[in-house]
Amino acid sequence: MAEAWNTLLGILFLCCWSSTMGAKNYVLYKDATKPVEVRVKDLLGRMTLEEKIGQMVQIERANDWNELEECVLSGSLFSGGGSVPADRASPKQWIDMVNEFQKVHGHNNVYKATIFPHNVGLGVTRDPALVKKIGAATAAEVRATGIPYAFAPCIAVCRDPRWGRCYESYSEDHKIVQTMTEIIPGLQGDVPSKFKSGTPFVSGKDKVAACAKHYVGDGGTIKGINENNTIVTDNELYNIHMPAYLNSLDKGVATVMVSYSSINGVKMHGNRKLVTGFLKRKLKFRSFVISDWEGIDRITYPPHKNYSYSILKSVKAGVDMFMLPYNYTEFINGLTDLVNKNAIPMNRINYAVKRILRVKFAMGLFENPLADYSLIDKLGSQEHRELAREAVRKSLVLLKNGKSAKRPVLPLPKKAGKILVAGSHADNLGNQCGGWTIKWQGQEGNNLTIGTTILQGIQAAVDPSTKVVFNENPDTKYVKSQDFSHAIVVVGEPPYAETAGDNQNLTLPHPGPKTIKNVCGAVECVVVIVSGRPLVIGPYVPEVDALVAAWLPGSEGQGVADVLFGDYGFTGKLARTWFKRVDQLPMNVGDKHYDPLFPFGFGLETKPSN
Ligand code: BGC
Repeated sequence: MAEAWNTLLGILFLCCWSSTMGAKNYVLYKDATKPVEVRVKDLLGRMTLEEKIGQMVQIERANDWNELEECVLSGSLFSGGGSVPADRASPKQWIDMVNEFQKVHGHNNVYKATIFPHNVGLGVTRDPALVKKIGAATAAEVRATGIPYAFAPCIAVCRDPRWGRCYESYSEDHKIVQTMTEIIPGLQGDVPSKFKSGTPFVSGKDKVAACAKHYVGDGGTIKGINENNTIVTDNELYNIHMPAYLNSLDKGVATVMVSYSSINGVKMHGNRKLVTGFLKRKLKFRSFVISDWEGIDRITYPPHKNYSYSILKSVKAGVDMFMLPYNYTEFINGLTDLVNKNAIPMNRINYAVKRILRVKFAMGLFENPLADYSLIDKLGSQEHRELAREAVRKSLVLLKNGKSAKRPVLPLPKKAGKILVAGSHADNLGNQCGGWTIKWQGQEGNNLTIGTTILQGIQAAVDPSTKVVFNENPDTKYVKSQDFSHAIVVVGEPPYAETAGDNQNLTLPHPGPKTIKNVCGAVECVVVIVSGRPLVIGPYVPEVDALVAAWLPGSEGQGVADVLFGDYGFTGKLARTWFKRVDQLPMNVGDKHYDPLFPFGFGLETKPSN
């Protein structure tokens, strides 16, 4: 999935420890035959405070490493959205970079990688086995660039589509989100039959450590405002937003990321009750909790006002690793000072480092610290593209099929004389991939990465005798003047990520409404909506002949054509309520005021025609 793969990092083991390792003598923690806990204890006993605090630090890859004199200070590096090495197209260069860091100090966004549908579309498939395969393919592609950790899955339960991250959520229904945690064994491997929930589990050189995020209640903020306050009863917190974390722990998720948002006014990055009290003590999560990007800075307002207080509050709350990403010196000095002043007990540092080391031992990073080059061919492989195409087919929801049930429009005939393809999203790979693709915010256009646009998919699907005419924004006169047998109009939202995607009106962006009006008034038309969430489409439904929600399908646009032209049937069912008006929001299945345009679970079906 695009998101999984856009937010990755490399966990690093640090060279400077070699001085304390005693190269010739037997070193217990290096002995892979010994239990992880024994190894963790041994290594912890050899570490200085400076090294321990170093383990708790995660720095952005793009820092100026020549400026850094110390090599012990960072236990982990990561690539933020859009952070890439000089040749973004070269998996070898990614691996070289990771290895260089591992040797010297201890590395998303890769051109050519397979971009799977965003989670909002995967929820529609109701197919956890498929999502598990996507996890495995994503892990292999991440490893193909030498990286052993992905900031995925996002197990948010998006309760309000005005939220700019709603597409990162599988569903408004926690039960669907729970089943989709099958992505975790896909990413990390299957836990053994006798397994203690909450223990980190990563197995195999084509597997990565996963990260369940954002703990907790990120999808429940007021009016869908990103990073805002989630006002919930205990019942809503523990029965809507929390359950998928239990499934994730049962599946050995290696890390949990804290949410920027607050629960009932308490910032999650400082929420000791929920991080230490519930996640670590009650659920027995034994692995590490990571902050979000500059997450601790937001504990104060304005952000970063009193950093020492933020460090104290978040360490005490139970955050173990800190995504800083640039402010590491201030963090290290601040935390060291707090420990020296006994404001933070040494034990708390030891517990954090133990959790981090558990993951690193579980991943085999001590035995195999360097990335190998054998998985390079996995990146954007045909096999993975076929899998993504299948996911696209299964993620489409047919909302309307013909002005009367007796005269269905879909599937379309492959032999059809001349057809029109129109709309801002028909031939636009960037739009169909959405945010968190190559760049943090994504990018419109076809230069972003490699893939198949919906138009290219249509061109490949039709009979050679059928002429496909592409005109992005035709006027009615033109459409009427041509002898089109029908038209496919693909419109929707531009790419966005996080707060930039927050939207309080959710109207269909310009020029979508005009394109629909110009085309659908003149010829029989199928409208395909490419968007990260339901939009206000009620006004257009009467004038369109068929309507398909395609969500953010990713790089394999052929999957849309596969179903439009009947090689496969429509099977997808809404995993989100399609509201009528924004003044109804939030409105989720089961609510008293439930009055949707299309209800949760809705989706017409077609049979394959070929
Ligand atoms: C997002 C996280 C993401 C991190 C690193 C943050 O802005 O909230 O979901 O993992 O960036 O890319």
